[in-house]
Amino acid sequence: MKTIRHKSSSRPAPSRELAELRARLSDAEETVRAIRTGEVDAVVVAGKQGPQVFTLQGAEHVYRVLIESMSEGALTLTADKTILYANQCFARMVKCPLEQVMGSSFRRFLSAEGRTMLRSLLKRADRFGSKIQVLLNAGDGSHTPAQISIRPLTKSGFNGATIGMVLADMTEARQTEKKLRALTHRVVQVQEAERGRVALELHDNITQLLCAVLFRSQALADKLSPRDGPARREAMRLHEMLGKTAEEVERISRNLRPGVLEQMGLIAVLRATSTGFAHRTGVPVKLACVQLTARLPADTELTLYRILQEALKNVEKHARARHVTVRLTQQGAFVQLVINDDGIGFDPDHHPAGRRGKGGLGLLGMRERATYVGGNLKVKSVRRAGTEIEVRIPLPPNATATN
Ligand SMILES: Nc1ncnc2c1ncn2[C@@H]1O[C@H](COP(=O)(O)OP(=O)(O)OP(=O)(O)O)[C@@H](O)[C@H]1O
Ligand SMILES: [Mg+2]
Repeated sequence: MKTIRHKSSSRPAPSRELAELRARLSDAEETVRAIRTGEVDAVVVAGKQGPQVFTLQGAEHVYRVLIESMSEGALTLTADKTILYANQCFARMVKCPLEQVMGSSFRRFLSAEGRTMLRSLLKRADRFGSKIQVLLNAGDGSHTPAQISIRPLTKSGFNGATIGMVLADMTEARQTEKKLRALTHRVVQVQEAERGRVALELHDNITQLLCAVLFRSQALADKLSPRDGPARREAMRLHEMLGKTAEEVERISRNLRPGVLEQMGLIAVLRATSTGFAHRTGVPVKLACVQLTARLPADTELTLYRILQEALKNVEKHARARHVTVRLTQQGAFVQLVINDDGIGFDPDHHPAGRRGKGGLGLLGMRERATYVGGNLKVKSVRRAGTEIEVRIPLPPNATATN
């Protein structure tokens, strides 16, 4: 800590008074200069009770130390976004010397989009502050992802500053997010491959075997004459049960197979999935689909199909719904699938499509699938009022739809 020492005032002899006053004036001038240039943090005055320390803007000094040791960027700005104060961390984030940062406009570190976001953030930022994520333009031409938290300062300003800002470097968080996304995508791919393999095994082995047994059970029933009464009835019942089992295995295999889309087309598959759900659960499904004039890309069709399956699985498992509505529409250059239920609903903030979700992977997988084909997924849910899953995927330029 730099200090300036001042002598205590004692009663000097008249002859020395002028010299003493001159010396004190020069001391005072030196103190003011040192304070102005930031060379000193405290003044020590020798008094009768020993030296007394007066810190200069003591609280501000403590905050300055604190802010300099932060691992976030900290700024204070004027209303026109001139940077009055920046810490070293911010200078490192934008790869610019601190002296070039202070006094310059904060806008130079933002893209046009970032500036617009900041403007609207400042409009709605209330006393409790707000946050946005932007890319900062660094001095070397690179970009640093950052989360800006804004705190409007008092109306009169703080040393002229009206905006306080903390900027968190999101580079690491973005990389982790990217890795997590790649991992989730891989999980979805592996899941799809595994489903295909199981479907093939079911079809090639179990279904074939069941068909053979079914055929033999029919032959057995035919061989038994009406005189064999109970045995014949038992054989007929066995045949019936085997028929139902074969149908069920075929249904499971069809649901697992992405190839089913190729054979039946998207709308037929959505219909079969909805009808199957209604039969199995007793919950009626109202289905409304536009007829797409051009075929969607295979991965978009598969995404819509899997999202419907997963959403209906959730309705069955969690919703206790009485009605379900499924709508496939075209909204401009997007195909949109909306699945509605009137069940118990849930709090999406606790399961925000898997981002911070507890437990299940269903919503996370749905969001991931939608993102992978360039779309997005929204979950709206209100307790006791039901849930809506909306997925929007961009159409290829040549695809149009009619009602
Ligand atoms: N339609 C719905 N109605 C009511 N609650 C729902 C509905 N869909 C999802 N939820 C709630 O959201 C949670 C997360 O759903 P998600 O599909 O991600 O996981 P899960 O269904 O629990 O498990 P998984 O899908 O991995 O088998 C569910 O546990 C449930 O509490
Ligand atoms: Mg689920």
